[in-house]
Amino acid sequence: ATSTVHAHRSALIHSLGDPAKLGIENSYQYFDDGLLVIEDGRIAAVGEAEKLLPGLPAAAQVTEHKDSLLCPGFIDTHIHYPQTGMIAAYGEQLLDWLNNYTFPTEQHFQDKEHAAGVADIFLTELLRNGTTTALVFGTVHPESVDAFFEAAEQRDLRMIAGKVMMDRNAPDYLTDTPESSYKESKALIERWHGKGRLHYAVTPRFAPTSTGEQLAVAGQLLGEYPDLYMHTHLSENKKEIEWVKELFPERSGYLDVYDHYELLGERSVLAHGVHLSDCECERLAETDSAIAFCPTSNLFLGSGLFNLPKMEAHNIKVGLGTDVGAGTSFSILQTLNEAYKLMQLQQEKLNPFKSLYLATLGGAQALKLDDKIGNFSIGKEADFVVLDYNATPLMSYRMAQAKELEERLFVLMTLGDDRTISETFAMGRSVHQR
Ligand code: GUN
Ligand code: ZN
Repeated sequence: ATSTVHAHRSALIHSLGDPAKLGIENSYQYFDDGLLVIEDGRIAAVGEAEKLLPGLPAAAQVTEHKDSLLCPGFIDTHIHYPQTGMIAAYGEQLLDWLNNYTFPTEQHFQDKEHAAGVADIFLTELLRNGTTTALVFGTVHPESVDAFFEAAEQRDLRMIAGKVMMDRNAPDYLTDTPESSYKESKALIERWHGKGRLHYAVTPRFAPTSTGEQLAVAGQLLGEYPDLYMHTHLSENKKEIEWVKELFPERSGYLDVYDHYELLGERSVLAHGVHLSDCECERLAETDSAIAFCPTSNLFLGSGLFNLPKMEAHNIKVGLGTDVGAGTSFSILQTLNEAYKLMQLQQEKLNPFKSLYLATLGGAQALKLDDKIGNFSIGKEADFVVLDYNATPLMSYRMAQAKELEERLFVLMTLGDDRTISETFAMGRSVHQR
């Protein structure tokens, strides 16, 4: 069978690397009148439309996007799908928020039908917001992960998820045991890890809700299968950190708990890392572990101000996370808006090209998926979004004043949200139209 070639003509931007390493000018590629050529769901070419159009096969379809900017799909490196229905829960910081809102909500995911309903709403919301890949928490129930992966598989999305492991300091209805968490995780790994575009993440919730025995089991699973992810939380809130010190007095600190049980590595993603010592930063870099920066969540729960320049100085991989339901938006654009403000409070600037990197290629690198997604390199999977410069009257009016690319990008990231995403594509197929 002959393969179909589909091309998209638009202004087009993608990240080539971290501006902190390459310098801003070398960190991206932009075409004012660009063409993205897709063959069998993968990037076949990217460049100036006038140069590429003559070389297209006669049967190629060309779609033009006017007053738009095309960029790679956004990557959310930390989110909880079961918390979709409890986003914007009033009044608490982390530990009370978990007990009062989160645990009761997660209880319902033992019911596979309930889980499937929420997974569908969740994936629809991700795509409405231009997010094409995410690292996702389930609940303690294996049913929650089956439901999620079934929904992601149906839409052919590149997704990573796992069953929560939690054997203490949570209600009985939400706890497993070292043995049951081993067995259930293993069965899910066998069923889903490497199937289509799906990957499994061993997911101990955080140090306070696992015994040492259970963390050892998590480490054992990581040793038994290649390319598994490890997904957890780290140093989000000061009371949480004190609690970890009480629960693991024999360890030198919060990160050392995970380190001791061999949970750090190039596919380990730890959410938050708001309060980290220099030693902990060095150890994260040494093990090539990644941090998920979750600004809307850190502000909503009053957790603190994430220090991105410190991560850069230590050469730690960082991706962006919405952390819904503690995060207050599914939108990576809104997440960048809050990230910018949070850095202003620390006398730091977040450059829009750095933001583009964090939202796309930086996220892919944090997830060790940069050989597959994150920018428009030839051969990568064609997951991309169309951003609309005329999404709202205000956006349109503001854009009329903004001629330079840097300014236009910054306005998109500051005013933008789900309305800015006019279309989302996965493997070259349209999966959302506004
Ligand atoms: N720490 C442990 N569990 C959670 C959670 O569900 N959300 C957040 N933000 N932090 C956590
Ligand atoms: Zn979280």
